[in-house]
Amino acid sequence: MSSCSGVQSALDPAGHEAREVATLFWVMAIGAGVVWCLVLGVAVYATRIRPDPHEEAVGWRLILWGGVVFPTVVLAALLVFGLGLMPQLREPGEGLRIDVSGEQFWWRVTYRPADGPAVVSANEIRVPVGERVEFGLTSPDVIHAFWIPALGGKVDMIPGRENRLVLKAEKPGTYRGACTEFCGASHALMAFDVVAIEKAAFSAWLAAQATPPSPPEGEAARGRELFLRHGCGACHRVAGTEAAGEVGPDLTRFGARATLGAATLANTPDNIARFVRETGALKPRAKMPAYPNLPGEELAAIAAYLGSLK
Ligand code: CUA
Repeated sequence: MSSCSGVQSALDPAGHEAREVATLFWVMAIGAGVVWCLVLGVAVYATRIRPDPHEEAVGWRLILWGGVVFPTVVLAALLVFGLGLMPQLREPGEGLRIDVSGEQFWWRVTYRPADGPAVVSANEIRVPVGERVEFGLTSPDVIHAFWIPALGGKVDMIPGRENRLVLKAEKPGTYRGACTEFCGASHALMAFDVVAIEKAAFSAWLAAQATPPSPPEGEAARGRELFLRHGCGACHRVAGTEAAGEVGPDLTRFGARATLGAATLANTPDNIARFVRETGALKPRAKMPAYPNLPGEELAAIAAYLGSLK
């Protein structure tokens, strides 16, 4: 019962597609409950109330009506109801397109607005409330699956092809998505936040993403120097700096995300330092090497820098 609500529940829908799926679920659950009670009723009648033999004609009638006609009608009605939901779920989006790629073990996110430059991010997806957003889903390595239970889904991310998914958030809020196809040692540590915000706020946010974050000061400035000197930029990109790696998550607005390591830990300075120091222990088989030999004060400066990237 504890999964009936919360940020990651298909039974607590916050989007159009999830609501349709939840309706289908309740129709099927209640229908199955009614059928179950009917079958139990017949069983109790035949074993307790009238256990003695019945006429053969009664048996044939029960099989014909209860075993052929009733299931055919019920399943046909369910099929028609389910097929009726599908065209709505497949309508194309109205403009915004977000490409998401499942990596080991994180999410590469690229916003492709109809009227502006593409914006690259990772491990957090923002969507406008009340607008259909089209997701292009793929993977460069193994099969992952993309599921935001509160909004809809789920769709496999398959290397070499692109699957489409159209979702519409109906309520502002933060929801949780997860990888739902076993993809390796850190499959269970591959999640993401979905932040649904009002359309005007979303447009302003997306426009702001096109400019690099303001330059860091104080400890964060020293952190940037260390970040570049230790070669983090070989794998990570931070727009506006020489860090332009594409192997790992884009960190341009890392400080604005609520979590790190694809929703593995809360985004706090201590956790950033921990993640850099003992990556493999926190996230088995992640491609990022651990840096156990970095002095604590350098880690703190790097954490301050990454936290400042908003
Ligand atoms: Cu990615 Cu499981």
